[in-house]
Amino acid sequence: MLSTDYVNSYLDSHLGERQVNKIQHGFPSPRFWNELSVPLEEIGEDRRRLRDEHGKSPVFLYVGVPYCIQTDPGKCGYCLFPVEEFQGNAALENYYGYVEREAEMYREQMKDSVLAGAYFGGGTSNLYKAPVYHRLMDMTRRLFPEISEAADLTLEGIPQLFSREKMQAIADSGFNRISMGIQQVNERLNSLSGRKQTTKHVIQSLEWARELGLAANVDLIFGWPQQTVDTMLEDLETLVSWDVYDITHYELNVGGPTDFALNRFHELPSTLANLEMYRAGRDFLLDRGYEQLSTYNFRRPGDPAARDFREGYTTRFDHLDTLGLGYAAITFFGNPSLPSGRSWSFINQRSLPQYKAAVDNGRFPAERGFRHTPEDFLLMLLFRSLISTEVDRTQYRTAFGIDVYEKFATIWDVLAGRGYAEITPERIRLVGDGPFYAPMFSTLIAEERYRELREEAAQRKKESRLAAPASRSDR
Ligand SMILES: C[S@@+](CC[C@H](N)C(=O)[O-])C[C@H]1O[C@@H](n2cnc3c(N)ncnc32)[C@H](O)[C@@H]1O
Ligand code: SF4
Repeated sequence: MLSTDYVNSYLDSHLGERQVNKIQHGFPSPRFWNELSVPLEEIGEDRRRLRDEHGKSPVFLYVGVPYCIQTDPGKCGYCLFPVEEFQGNAALENYYGYVEREAEMYREQMKDSVLAGAYFGGGTSNLYKAPVYHRLMDMTRRLFPEISEAADLTLEGIPQLFSREKMQAIADSGFNRISMGIQQVNERLNSLSGRKQTTKHVIQSLEWARELGLAANVDLIFGWPQQTVDTMLEDLETLVSWDVYDITHYELNVGGPTDFALNRFHELPSTLANLEMYRAGRDFLLDRGYEQLSTYNFRRPGDPAARDFREGYTTRFDHLDTLGLGYAAITFFGNPSLPSGRSWSFINQRSLPQYKAAVDNGRFPAERGFRHTPEDFLLMLLFRSLISTEVDRTQYRTAFGIDVYEKFATIWDVLAGRGYAEITPERIRLVGDGPFYAPMFSTLIAEERYRELREEAAQRKKESRLAAPASRSDR
């Protein structure tokens, strides 16, 4: 266990750094996903056994699309997701044909699963023309003939690409929710990203969604170049006045060769200013009746179109399986009742030609994966719990036979002492600025395991260096 002194000095040295949200990958970071052959047959076998023993199991479906319309600066100036420039509808529909074929490969394995929710993200999933939305839902129903009543079936997109015809097709085909990346309502700030959306596009898309009974989520980003607390609050005020019930308020992740990292770094609000924005945004939304469902998600009760879905995380341990289809999609299969080493994260090919080549050859297009030890599985769950702002001790006791408070007591005690967490016999809850720092707390909790993973990676590198000359002399 980390010493109290170590925890305190870790926090002191990291509180001033930018947060990096890890909602997508959980634990560990994909740079440690080193297994090139992911045993998909074995994983499928586990799914079947679990279903035989415990009955129908819920699975989330994620479907990715590689393409985005070109912007200047590229990739909206900030985006760190793997995307490719849109090359027209023929290429998009050709790509989607591959996704349908990949889905077929999982048909047998997913038999008797219940679809708990589906998310068509990206890239930009509303690039599809109107008739294609029916194909998306047809594929979903073929793979999951049973869909939970509570399932959110979400289509993600950007405001300027929605049209009345598309929105009608989205609703008619069976989607019940859209998620729109807006980032900034403020048109001047938005234009720094090269995104061509206008306020009119945003309002119009929300109106169509409402008219057609689709729930609507909106993504905003704070910590944007030149943004102030005032411009951020104006944006939130606007969304509240438009009756947007479901708001995701991300802090900007800065990195990579993006325009914001390379050319606008000096215009970014400081880490302290980001904390001020987080506080002001949270208080503003709580005052207006929204509930904080996670570090990033806020929902106002009473949305006539909404179901009970928590995007990006779940707090139920038997609701973890996520099947990712398409380019760069991420899959997680795990269950506390499986034997050690049978829980997996993997990512599909991030090269479009390789993704297609795998499907053409009848292979699952997985690029690389990570086999979780029970410790890794526990850490992955803790990452999710922290993002959800609450660690349910009873649930961990039942699933793992351990008390997560005891296991990381020095960390929880220091967090509680600093006013970031409240500890009761049933749960540990992040409070105050705690949710803002959740990504950093997750890294701290995983610190010892990350050290081991780094050592293992260095060892592997050494072995492969030693093996290389030997194999040459063998020839
Ligand atoms: C992968 S994007 C796809 C959605 C759609 N293409 C769009 O741009 O609106 C999903 C969401 O991730 C968030 N996002 C993307 N890059 C980000 C970054 N560098 N920092 C924080 N959030 C980011 C944005 O809010 C975006 O709406
Ligand atoms: S933010 Fe959205 S539209 Fe922009 S590059 Fe990323 S995925 Fe594409």
